[in-house]
Amino acid sequence: MKNFITIEGCDGVGKTCQTALLKEYCLQHGYDNIVFTREPGGSKIAEQIRKIILDANNAEMSDLCEAFLYAASRIQHLEDIVKPALAEGKIVICDRFVHSSYAYQGVARQIGLSRVRAINEIAVGEYMPQFTVFLDLSPEAAFERKGGKDVTDRLENVDIDFHQKVYSGYKQLIDEATDKFVVIDASGSTEQTHQKVIDALIKKGVLK
Ligand code: TYD
Repeated sequence: MKNFITIEGCDGVGKTCQTALLKEYCLQHGYDNIVFTREPGGSKIAEQIRKIILDANNAEMSDLCEAFLYAASRIQHLEDIVKPALAEGKIVICDRFVHSSYAYQGVARQIGLSRVRAINEIAVGEYMPQFTVFLDLSPEAAFERKGGKDVTDRLENVDIDFHQKVYSGYKQLIDEATDKFVVIDASGSTEQTHQKVIDALIKKGVLK
């Protein structure tokens, strides 16, 4: 879908920080036609679903239940935020979207890419991103950068093996559709990565 851009990466890659910096840059440069949002969550009901998914007390949640909850949250977020903004002619930049489900649920949680794609096809329909910015950093480096585990978050309380699977999941998705991804080396400083993101969005015609 034209003007719908997503940002993806493993946990700890600095994605949230980079998205905030990008938003700040856009504000400072007078872009009032760009809507920033995030998943899981992003709107009232979607945020409530996010809380259930990320709650450390829900450790027994089945992987398939989790996959459906992400998709359910995605449907509501699309209806509440993404579709109205695109209909108004705005650009939407979303921190995580369907490729997180493919990599985390499909590959790392081993539900299978085809099943997760099927669930999300119903949820997303034609609202697939125009392209995805992938912040590329090995899970080991990302883990270091994060300074260890946050045990209050169910999903971050998992070992490095899981994150390696997520990373290889993303790599597989990129290999399958290189034209749909902009891969950015995120191993440098925050400022260097920020500049690379800006340059990539200028090259893609999103920013001037
Ligand atoms: P969050 O705290 O937003 O992490 P980050 O700042 O790294 O984006 O938590 C999002 C977590 O949810 C993250 O571990 C990835 C996971 N996730 C999935 O497993 N599937 C999905 O479809 C989405 C959107 C997120």
